Amino acid sequence: MNITKMEEFMRENDLMIIERCIENKNEKLDVKEEPFEKLMFFYKSALKQLELQMNIIKDEFKLIYNYDLIDHIDTRIKEPKSIVKKMEKKKYDKTYLNLIEKINDIAGIRIVCTLKDDIFFIRDLVKQIPDIHILKEKDYVTNPKESGYKSYHMLVSVPIFLSDSVVDTKVEIQIRTIAMDFWASLEHDIHYKADRAKLPAGIDEEMFACAEKIAEIDRQMQDMYRRIADAEANGDAVKK
Ligand code: GTP
Ligand code: MG
Repeated sequence: MNITKMEEFMRENDLMIIERCIENKNEKLDVKEEPFEKLMFFYKSALKQLELQMNIIKDEFKLIYNYDLIDHIDTRIKEPKSIVKKMEKKKYDKTYLNLIEKINDIAGIRIVCTLKDDIFFIRDLVKQIPDIHILKEKDYVTNPKESGYKSYHMLVSVPIFLSDSVVDTKVEIQIRTIAMDFWASLEHDIHYKADRAKLPAGIDEEMFACAEKIAEIDRQMQDMYRRIADAEANGDAVKK
């Protein structure tokens, strides 16, 4: 599907979801009311569906190929207060339609792996899952953010099989190594939770320096793994 077709497809889906939750799509959002709860059902279902599929792939690699491709998987549904805060920050009118059309990270899944190359391997596996559509991709592994943040981001749509139809719902995927995940958790705590104004001077620079060191460790780990794999392929090292 090309971009315009994809946008049309998602818009139709968004409207299909919304009409199952509320009569007037432009009604003011109220996170304490039933329509909001109904809307969240779609995101929770899409997330469950993708988490299950990724766990099957995780187990398949471990059991069938004897390889820990995926270290662990985290999922989260954005807190109602964080949804409202984001809409206010972005200056969107707080309607149900804007919520579904403009907030892309309501359902989030994080796939954490050991080696950097595995990030791209997992990305390609996600692309192969039937009926999952890739809506957006951002490669912060090859092009890290100014902060030093690294991860591979994908916005996908996941089909949910309802009693009378199939609806596609957006899920944000982050794929990163254990080392990148360690850095991002610490940095998130410092920047998103702490009061920025009270941070001691030089913290941003030090955080960036830590990201560089972590990237070096990721490179070294990957290199060692490649050398071991090559040695095994040549029969020089034998697995126990
Ligand atoms: P949002 O509207 O904030 O979601 O931004 P965006 O749509 O431009 O997405 P982006 O890819 O920049 O970031 C989405 C998510 O990635 C954030 O919600 C964080 O979980 C994570 N992220 C992005 N930048 C950073 C960063 O500098 N540090 C950390 N710790 N996490 C980040
Ligand atoms: Mg976000």
